[in-house]
Amino acid sequence: MKIAKTITELKTGLEELGRDKTIGFVPTMGYLHDGHLSLINKAQGQNDVTVVSIFVNPTQFAPGEDLDAYPRDFDRDSQLAEAAGTDLLFFPDPAEIYPAGASTFVEVEGEITRKLCGQSRPTHFKGVTTVVNILFNLIQPTRAYFGQKDAQQVAVIKKMVRDLHLPVQIAVCPIVREADGLALSSRNVFLSPEQRSEALVLSQSLAAAKALYESGERSVKVLKDQLVSQINTMPLAIIDYADILDFETLADIETITAPALAAVAVRFEKARLLDNIILD
Ligand code: PAF
Repeated sequence: MKIAKTITELKTGLEELGRDKTIGFVPTMGYLHDGHLSLINKAQGQNDVTVVSIFVNPTQFAPGEDLDAYPRDFDRDSQLAEAAGTDLLFFPDPAEIYPAGASTFVEVEGEITRKLCGQSRPTHFKGVTTVVNILFNLIQPTRAYFGQKDAQQVAVIKKMVRDLHLPVQIAVCPIVREADGLALSSRNVFLSPEQRSEALVLSQSLAAAKALYESGERSVKVLKDQLVSQINTMPLAIIDYADILDFETLADIETITAPALAAVAVRFEKARLLDNIILD
């Protein structure tokens, strides 16, 4: 596996791998877990070359968020990425991605970025779409791979790709969970044993909402009440949001008549955890 720390090294690495090859790209912020590895495996199976980036992107963190505390372990990550079949690992410094004086951003406007995570993190998606654009420009992938756990991120990136006619296919891979149901996240490392046990309420409340939906319930209010009341039984859990929206557009709905996304974000002190389920 080649490791590129600079844009020059990245370009050389891509040339050496062959510019005529299909490229599967997995953008990450590192601290890799089985969710990331499932994306790398998928990319490897569908493309000639697999490129992974590890970059804790400062522009998607607001002041006071966990940019400095975000977990990092490059040696472990590079071993995992190599074992999973990565051909080229891009691990740039912030100054490489954002040269001095950079002041250009890519922003998807509208409801899609204002609700859910956009409410408590209003500048987050602007940072995500900007860095994903920069990485797409540098790597020019055939396909890029994202996890369904970040359902809103997936919807925003798909919209950006559509709106800007970017020549890349977006592939979405299912949420990977621990055996007991907790969705894998690099931020799970922040959980104390007690919080880890309470955090199961995310997947459990979503499963309960899905069971209600499958028994015929179509009222968003009733299903949302189920999510909120179940999460609130956990003393350490603070709900950021628990919502049910149109799956494609993330528009508000009152009754489910087409595939819907039930999504929750819950804070356990330092860890803000996300999970979701499709009601289809
Ligand atoms: O999902 C992530 O890890 C990040 O938001 C991404 C897509 C790598 C952009 O920094």
